[in-house]
Amino acid sequence: MDIFNFQTPTKLILGKGAISEIGVEVKRLMAANILIVTDKVITQTGLLQKVLKPLKEEKIQFDIHDEVVPEPPFENLEELANKIEGKGYDLLIGVGGGSVLDAAKALSIMMTNGEDIRDLVGTNKVKTPGIPTILVPTTSGTGSEVTSNAIFTDNRDKVKKGIVSPYLLPAVAIVDAELTYTVPPAVTAATGMDALVHAIEAYTSVKANDLTDGIALQAIKLISRSLRQAVYDKHNEKARIDMSMGSLLAGISFGNAGVGAVHALAYPLGGKFKVPHGVANSLLLVYVIRYNLVANLQKFAEIAEAMGERLEGLSLREAADRALFAMATLSKDLGIPSSLREFGVSEDDILAMAQEASQIDRLLNNNPRWLTVKEIEQIYREALEGLAALTK
Ligand SMILES: [Fe+2]
Repeated sequence: MDIFNFQTPTKLILGKGAISEIGVEVKRLMAANILIVTDKVITQTGLLQKVLKPLKEEKIQFDIHDEVVPEPPFENLEELANKIEGKGYDLLIGVGGGSVLDAAKALSIMMTNGEDIRDLVGTNKVKTPGIPTILVPTTSGTGSEVTSNAIFTDNRDKVKKGIVSPYLLPAVAIVDAELTYTVPPAVTAATGMDALVHAIEAYTSVKANDLTDGIALQAIKLISRSLRQAVYDKHNEKARIDMSMGSLLAGISFGNAGVGAVHALAYPLGGKFKVPHGVANSLLLVYVIRYNLVANLQKFAEIAEAMGERLEGLSLREAADRALFAMATLSKDLGIPSSLREFGVSEDDILAMAQEASQIDRLLNNNPRWLTVKEIEQIYREALEGLAALTK
């Protein structure tokens, strides 16, 4: 067996009502000067109160910054870092979706590394551990609370850029499904599909191993059986709990096995066309998987089974095809846009997008099938035509 690393946060606290533990955790970490990092949606909808209540019960004082913007640019981080400089915070609590959690992770290392945030882009560029963080997700999707990645937009070249470092892992992740109950259907659909993409890409990554496989496959099962209900039945608590656990497991698996071409091809859509991360991944999923399928028929057949497809009597090739069918059907059921044209992309944009995506070796190197600019262009072209292209 090859040698592999497996990393998770030091402590995970999971389950309905888990947020009630946050005050105890803050005391355990012996933090005295605490900053809560969040966004306006979380403060204005009252969701933050669910986090503040157990802190107040433990008589813990804190400051709040709620100025993280969606898909945050580096400038947003720099503004936040300037505001908190010199305040001596010794614990950051991130409460929100992936954008907020990524911002909290980055602020933690910015406070101790003293470098331009752009110089920390890439893998293992961060030299000094950040101040400790507690991360509390309020969507079921990004898995940011358990990964060593943080993704930002560089407004200078309109490109999404990632910081990858074990120092981004939090001291504690608290994953409480109750905090996701009020997420609107479209966000539940996009973030839920992002989580499914994490699990599928981790399961088929060339860096996958038995440990990440078991976790990824369980994530695929939970998400596939519950995402429709989580989107369409707002009272379905069990579906929300499945999604919460599913996205956590997906995060742990891709945090170690990596993600591949779906994420790489989604980057230019986010940077230039401002397509939200979850939507970009969901849209591209079927087109990329159609290309990847032949590289690992066995694993795609196993994904089909985990997604609830009946495989009796099918050949391995036919069984793998059922995975593609299951993904396309799920996207359609959730009303995910199926064509890049819906976001203003045209044929003229494809070459530049393909060239940009082809540079993201960090992700493409994990993909089960090798891609060059030519293949990436072809995948984008199919995505431009919409799902009809898949039946050709
Ligand atoms: Fe993602």
